Formats: sequence, structure tokens, C-alpha cells
Amino acid sequence: MMNKKDIDWDNLGFYAHETKSMFKAIYTAEEKWQVEGLIPYGDVSMSPASTILNYGQGIFEGTKAYRTSKDRVVGFRIEENAARFASSSERLCIPQLPEGLFLNAVQEVVKDNSDFLPTQDQGSLYIRPLAYGDGPMLGVKASNNYTFLVYATPVGSYFKSGLKMLDTILTDKYHRIATKSIGFAKAVGNYAGTLLPYKEITMDGFDEVIFLNSSDENIIDEARSANVFVLKGNVLKTPALQGSILPGITRDSTIKVARELFDLEVYEEDVTVEDLLNGDEVFFTGTAAVVAPAGSINYKNNKVQFETDYNASMTKKIRDKLIDIQYENIEDPFGWVVPLK
Ligand SMILES: Cc1ncc(COP(=O)(O)O)c(C=O)c1O
Repeated sequence: MMNKKDIDWDNLGFYAHETKSMFKAIYTAEEKWQVEGLIPYGDVSMSPASTILNYGQGIFEGTKAYRTSKDRVVGFRIEENAARFASSSERLCIPQLPEGLFLNAVQEVVKDNSDFLPTQDQGSLYIRPLAYGDGPMLGVKASNNYTFLVYATPVGSYFKSGLKMLDTILTDKYHRIATKSIGFAKAVGNYAGTLLPYKEITMDGFDEVIFLNSSDENIIDEARSANVFVLKGNVLKTPALQGSILPGITRDSTIKVARELFDLEVYEEDVTVEDLLNGDEVFFTGTAAVVAPAGSINYKNNKVQFETDYNASMTKKIRDKLIDIQYENIEDPFGWVVPLK
């Protein structure tokens, strides 16, 4: 096991540190889901002909545990992650977990790895549930065998340089996903195609890439692992959940915070390239990054620079409100925070 002392707690970043334990359940066609419970954190083995290795039959989730101002350990809307895991499972032909297993597994992992839970100043414990086909299947078919794993790792800021105004590219070179494919699921295959675009944009000095909708290049989809919002005056817009974007939990939380706490008019509808380039503020939402501001957007070699001072921005207000709810710095008006005992 990794020693706690080997971790640079004040500069956690977003890396997979080895922790104490992970939770495992396995599925076979005969026995259905069987819980193995907590096992030491470590490597997994599987058939070289497994469907995850050959055909990408796998899904995951991402959520966090926070050590809060009330000295409690809490999660944030984890039942929403459980619901999305169920929806992703269905799309990838992975057998549904029994009721309550997802939540129970997350709780056990957090409790057993509590030594690895950062303080509020340092960050949070990122939790990664996975399910994948690990039985051999040479033809392109769903596996007969699956593993459900939950591991956790301490994280700080998702963006290497901490919070910064992101220089972004709206790409017309790549799509993230086909519109009637698996974009709404948190399927492993949705991420592989973003690696090359990301490599290219970072080599050009950019921080994040926004993808266009693959059926209509006049509208935007999302980033690699975050949803996109555009603020213009009192109106906040984000692409509707039409199948190709992930229904982000931070996205949904942002919509509710914006409407109910900041009186913004919020629309889930097509967000055009025009909307994006003419916004007062553009920001990204996701569990890892929470809310991250765009400083500029580059499209077809033209650069739009956002002029709003971040410290006076609505982006910061929404970000701070979400973080204050997550760390129980303020009362949670929505009932989103759940104690993880
Ligand atoms: C493709 C994609 N979009 C959006 C998000 C944001 O979702 P959430 O706010 O639930 O983390 C994520 C991260 O989970 C993602 O992978």
C-alpha cells in the first residue's frame, strides 16, 4: 500500500494515488452479482479475450467525498451517480447492479480509505466506480462475466495550474461522439476518441476543447469531460440532453443554483456557435473541475477573449456556491449533501 507520507498533500492535482482498498463484486450468468466486498487496492487480471479489452464494454462513474466544515464526511448527490450508472449499464448491456449496492460500495470505500481523505484546503477524495465485461468473447457480443469495482484517490485541482481562465478551442476537426450513439452514457469508449484532440490542442498551448454536435455543426455538444454553459446578460444556456452529451450532475446542480439562488433565466436548448462566441461568460461544469471559467475560445483561427473579471463573474458566484454546499460552509438548500458514515 502507498504510504500516506509519499503523497504531496498540498499539491494533489488530479492523479491516481494508490490507496488502501477497493470494493469488488463479480457477475456470472449462473450466480448473478456476487459481492466480494473490500479487497486491497491493486491490479486486476482478466482474459485477453475479455470484452472490455477487445470491444470497450465498460462504464464508469466519478463522484467525490468531502471532509466538511462540520467535520463530517459527505458525498454529493451520489444517488444521481447510481442512477446514471444504471442508465450507462443498460446502454452497454452490462447487467444492472442490485438495488443499493452502488451506494453501499461507495460508503465502504470511503470509510475504509478515510486516511486518504484530504482536508478542505487540500481537496477531496475522488471515487471511481467501474463495471466492465471480463469474460472471453471473440465475436462482438456482450460478455457473460462482469466485474464491478470501486476505488478512490485523493485529488486537488483538476487543472494542473489550479483555477485559471481556460484557453479553449471549439474544434471543427473532430467530433466527440455520433448523436445516436453512446454519448449520454459514461462509457469508456467515449473518452478514447478525445485523447488525440486533447494532445493536439495542448501542444498548441490550449487547455480545453469543445466539440460540435456531429449532426448539426451549428450547435455545440460539450467538452471532453465537462458540460458547457454560456451566460449572456441574465440568461444562462446549456445544450439540452438530446443523447450525445453526458447528463452531468454538476450541470443539473448548476441549473438549479442559477435559477433558484441567482435568479437567472436558464434554458436547456440548442446552444449555437454564435451563442458561444457572443457570450459574456462561458464555463465548464463537472465533478472533477466543479465550475471552470473559459478565458478565450478559438474557432477557425479567430480568438474571442472574455472580458469579464473572474472575481466579479457569475461563473465564480456559481462555483463558490456549489463548493460551499459541498463542504457544508453554508446550509444545503437542496438536500444534496449526504453523510457517508
Ligand atoms: C463527457 C462528460 N461530460 C460531462 C461530465 C460532467 O458530469 P458530472 O458533472 O456528473 O461530473 C463528465 C464527467 O463526469 C463527462 O465525462
